[in-house]
Parts: sequence; structure tokens; C-alpha cells
Amino acid sequence: MSNPKRNILVTSALPYANGSIHIGHLVEYIQTDIWVRFQKMCGNHCIYICADDAHGTPIMLRAQQEDITPEELIAKVKLEHEKDFSDFHIEFDNYHSTHSEENKTHAIRIYERLKENGHITTKTVVDLYDPQDKVFLPDRFVKGECPKCHAKDQYGDNCEVCGSTYTPAELISPYSSTSGATPIEKENLHYFFKLNDFQDMLRDWIASDPLQPEITNKVKEWFVSGLKDWDISRDAPYFGFEIPDAPGKYFYVWLDAPIGYMASLQQYCDRTGENFDAYWKTDSKHEVYHFIGKDIAYFHMLFWPAMLQGANYRIPTAVYCHGFLTVDGQKMSKSRGTLIKARTYLDHLKPEYLRYYFAAKLGPGVNDIDLNLNDFQQRVNSDVVGKLVNIASRCAGFIHKKFDGRLTSTFIENNISAFQQAVLKNVDIRDCYQNRKYSEAIRTIMSLADVANQIIDTHKPWELIKDESKHDEVHQVCSFGLNMYRLLIGYLKPVMPELAKKSETFLNTEVCWDDLASGKPLPDGHQINKFKPLITRIEKELIENMIEDSTQDVLPVAADPINDEITFDDFAKLDFRIAKIIKAEHVEGADKLLRLTLDLGEPTGSVQRNVFAGIKSAYSPEEVEGRLTVVVANLAPRKMRFGISEGMVLAAGSGDKDIFLLQPDSGATPGMRVK
Ligand code: MSP
Ligand code: ZN
Repeated sequence: MSNPKRNILVTSALPYANGSIHIGHLVEYIQTDIWVRFQKMCGNHCIYICADDAHGTPIMLRAQQEDITPEELIAKVKLEHEKDFSDFHIEFDNYHSTHSEENKTHAIRIYERLKENGHITTKTVVDLYDPQDKVFLPDRFVKGECPKCHAKDQYGDNCEVCGSTYTPAELISPYSSTSGATPIEKENLHYFFKLNDFQDMLRDWIASDPLQPEITNKVKEWFVSGLKDWDISRDAPYFGFEIPDAPGKYFYVWLDAPIGYMASLQQYCDRTGENFDAYWKTDSKHEVYHFIGKDIAYFHMLFWPAMLQGANYRIPTAVYCHGFLTVDGQKMSKSRGTLIKARTYLDHLKPEYLRYYFAAKLGPGVNDIDLNLNDFQQRVNSDVVGKLVNIASRCAGFIHKKFDGRLTSTFIENNISAFQQAVLKNVDIRDCYQNRKYSEAIRTIMSLADVANQIIDTHKPWELIKDESKHDEVHQVCSFGLNMYRLLIGYLKPVMPELAKKSETFLNTEVCWDDLASGKPLPDGHQINKFKPLITRIEKELIENMIEDSTQDVLPVAADPINDEITFDDFAKLDFRIAKIIKAEHVEGADKLLRLTLDLGEPTGSVQRNVFAGIKSAYSPEEVEGRLTVVVANLAPRKMRFGISEGMVLAAGSGDKDIFLLQPDSGATPGMRVK
């Protein structure tokens, strides 16, 4: 019996519009998409909403760097994000932007209601001010010497050299990054949201709701340290919405970011005619779920419910946090090639491999999840190709050759009970999906695939087929196998929608949860279609090529955490030399690399090296011939896809057109040691 239809609104966190989607982000979008597909498959009315988070200083800075307007940047990034998501089969019902009319309307409405209800206050704060440009300076616009490691030209909030964080006031010899002037301290009016007004509500919410235990503990710690007023205003220049009646003051990006959930729903409702208020009115019976990473729990567990209640809206039904992705047990790292962009992955591998692997690893908690690249390859190959699809491929041939592509609904006695047991498991599997215990669901599905394969193995249809009198048994066993396959692929449909779709075409039937649960096999004489390979194995080389390409990718600094610390001795091992590029050529099949012949002019005479460098976006071969560069001269030769690379060229820049080599007249000569 199916339960009455539920109305469910689901969101994933809104990705920042200043950079590409990487496989870390995908943990979240895949986790959410599986949940949503499961709800839809069960017949619930479930809407999956998302948007780009388009406001704030990093987006302004990134646009400046690229010499385009913030509007141009966010339009470009939104297209890229949407394409990445849809190619990973992440199917939003609506994808919008926080820089939208809908969001402006809702942000202002919420702010005004908060103000009317007495939850907004103002305070005077001492800020840094640029006396030349006559503007207050956000942290990122103040630069200076790091107070810890004394690196020059560091941002006002953190040091990219040593990784420490501080306030702009702590910088040594600070200067405005726009005018170069020395900032002065100046009193400034800020707007605050009085979070503390919501102590009781938040306490109740956290106590009543089935939150994840780790998160409940975290929130309790926050209570102990006290709920402080939240600074929600930023001064011009800022890319965001201006605060009503406060010229030159803008909403801080995190104020209007979660309101973006509402804005995207608004756009969806305007398009489809659904009722927006039904989801958000205080007494709504509809369900609202937010899927987020643990790093943004504070915003979703405290500020967001408080804002909602303060503005006379309902609060979310639940917020589900997940952990962070590591690759081969370590933080993702650009230099190891493990900070993999969604697009780079897709250039080499099928999206469903990753969907399957993440599902096989994801539980309901906030533990980090590891993508172990060897395990990834083996697991997908052995589970999906070796166990699951194998059932279909080994049965389909006989059905076509001997039985005209038609199934029988008569099974051998022991096969009937195996099939029924597998049907009964739908209850457990359903429960696993509902409670985000995907890894458990996958384990159950794969153990059923083992059972099906064992049964086929005991009957050995490939031998029975030689004996005319055994053909009924072949028909029955293979029909059983294909019915099992239908069931299992149905269970896996939220995780692998494309494989499921191809399988539905092959089986000539569609699957929804109620059909699976009914336990009815396909009708007697059901005609199936020709079997075509449904999915291929992952070859090691594909993974290697992806990693190699990833080392060449350009990603924004914020998404590229600093590597593990090395000692000075580690550093001293590196031998940096000036080299002259004597020849440069295109590399066939590589979109980022140039092949360089370098002259290292070591004391013994001219020494030539063959090096591959990812500088093609910035330079044509003709432009670099004759230029100087810095190379790591003692790096062990490395086999790359296009040949051996005997060193590494060092060039700095933000990527694309901005990659800088030394000029020929920079006073350096080949072979010189760089210190
Ligand atoms: N813009 C904010 C969210 C605003 S929601 C109103 C933001 N954006 S983000 O692009 O940095 O991250 C989007 C989501 O991806 C977040 O939930 C974040 O936790 C998640 N992840 C980003 N990197 C991740 C990993 N390496 N691993 C797992 N999830 C990760 O935060
Ligand atoms: Zn530092």
C-alpha cells in the first residue's frame, strides 16, 4: 500500500558564482538528487530547487580580475554550472540566481518584517577607510604584510602564504588595494540582526527535530558561547542588494543567500502556477528540507530559521548535513591533481560511476567521505558491471536465440522464493533511501545481485541449452534472471537514472516503486528488446588521464586549499633554474599543453630538456620561443599521456590569458640558480 502523496520542497546549498563545480560539491548535489529522485519514484510531489549564490566581494574581485562586469561573470558561470549539473544527471526543478528580481523582493520583504518585528538594530563600528577613494574597505580590499610570517601583499583577512587568519587592523603597513592609500580608522554604522531574540525557538527546534547527533552537539556549543548579533550590512562598493532607507549599505551576501531558496521556488511557482505560500506559511503542512555541507551549518541551523520565524514564515522541517570529500585519504589538492572539476571528470569518465560510488559511501552522518581512486575503479567494475549488468547480459542472449525475445512468468520453485524475498527487501531499501542510508541500500541491492548470479550459476543455462529437453528450464531461469534484474535496476534507479533508463528500454517496461513492491513478475510472453551493452568498465588509464588534466585546471584560490606543510629541508631539495625556451610546439590531442624544448645551459654546456607545460591558454608557440622561464630542474622525469616530461616550468598567474613567464631581457641567463 502506498502512503498518501507528500508535498516536499528540497534544496541543495547554492554554489558560489565565482568558480567551477568540483567533485567535492558533487557529493552534496548527488546526495540530494538521489533523495529527490527516490521521492518522485515513490509518487510524492517533490520539488528540487537551487540557484547560484551570486553576491559578495569574491565575486566582485573575480569579475575585476577577468575584466568583466559581475553580471557578465555570473551569467557565464551560471551556464557552466547548469551544464555541469545536468551532465551529472542532477535534475533541478528550478535553477535560479540570488541576483534576481524574485530574490530582491523576498530579501527586502524579510528584512522589513524583521525590522517591524524589532529584530534589527544598528551599531557604530570602527572600520578601515580609504581616504583617497572615500570608501570603507572590505577585508579583501586591504592588503599588507602578514603579521605572522611577514609575507608581503596579503589580503586583510588571511595570508595565502602561511594560511593564518587575522583582522585587517593586524596587518603590517596596510594599504588599500584599489588606491594604494594607507587606510585610516573611521566610525561606521552597521545593521545587525538580533539572533538572540530567537534563543527559545532555536532551542526548541533543535530539541524537537530529529537532527543528526553530531550537529545537535555543535549547535549546543554555539549556544554555550552565546548567540551574538549578526552584522548584516556591508558598505559600497558591494555586489548585492542595497538596504532600503540606507543608501550605500548593502545586505551581506549570507543574508540574501538562503532567501535564494525562496526566490528560486517563487520563479518555479510563477512558471507552473503552484502556490508559493503553501510551502512557507507558518502553519504549512508541506515539508521543507535543506541539504548542506557541515561548513555552513551555522547559517542554516541558527540564522536561517531565526530569520524565517522573525519574518512570519515557517521553519524548515529538517536540515541535513554531510561531510567533506577527501581523495585517496587526503584533502583535495590541485598539485596532486585531485581537485577535480566536474567538467574534467566528465571529459574522461561517465557521471554514473561517481553517482554509484558516492551512494555506496554515503551514510546519514556528517563523516567525511573518501574517494579512493583504486577502490572507485574496482568497486564500480565489480558491482555494476560484474554483478548487476552481468545478470542481464548472460540471460538476454538465450531469450532472444531460443524464445523469440519473450519471457515466461513461470519460475522454478526455488527461484520463486528468491524473487519474493528480493521483492520483500523493497521495504528495507525504501527505508534506507528515506533516511539517507544509501550505502546500506547499495549493500542490500548488491547482495541480491549475488543471489541472482548464484542461482543462474547453479542452473548453468549455457549447458542446459545444448539439450533440447532442458529448454523450458533455460527459459525459466533466464526469465527469473531478467525479472531480478528489473527489480534491482528499479531499486537503483535514483542512483543510476541513465542505466535504469537504458535498462527499461531493453526490458521494454518502466519501473516505479509501487510496481516493484507489488511483487508481480513481467507478464507471461512479455517481449524484451535486443540487449546492447549498458555500461562499460572503468579503465585505469581514464582515471590517470583525468588526474593529469586536473593538475592543469584553473580554479579560484578559495577552492584550492593550501597543501600540507613541508619543512625547509624539503624545500631546499628543489633546484630552480633559469631556462630558455628554444622550441615550442602544439601537442596533438591536448587542449592545455605545449611541448617545450628548454635550454638549461648548465656549466657543462647546453643541456636540453623536453617539458610539457599547461600554458597553451595564454601563449602560442611562437610567442614563447626565445622567452625565459624558471624550471624545477631536479624533478624526476614523469611519463605523461603525450610523452616524458623532464622538469616542471613555473609560471604564475590567474590562468587563461594570465600566465606569466620571464621576459628575455629580465637580466637572467639560462642555467642561473634561482634563490
Ligand atoms: N554559497 C554558499 C552556500 C549558500 S546556501 C544558502 C556555499 N557555496 S559553496 O560553493 O562553497 O559550497 C556549496 C556546497 O558544497 C556547500 O554545502 C558545501 O559544504 C559543499 N562543498 C564544497 N566543497 C565540498 C567538499 N570538498 N566536500 C563536500 N562538500 C563540499 O557554501
Ligand atoms: Zn603569513
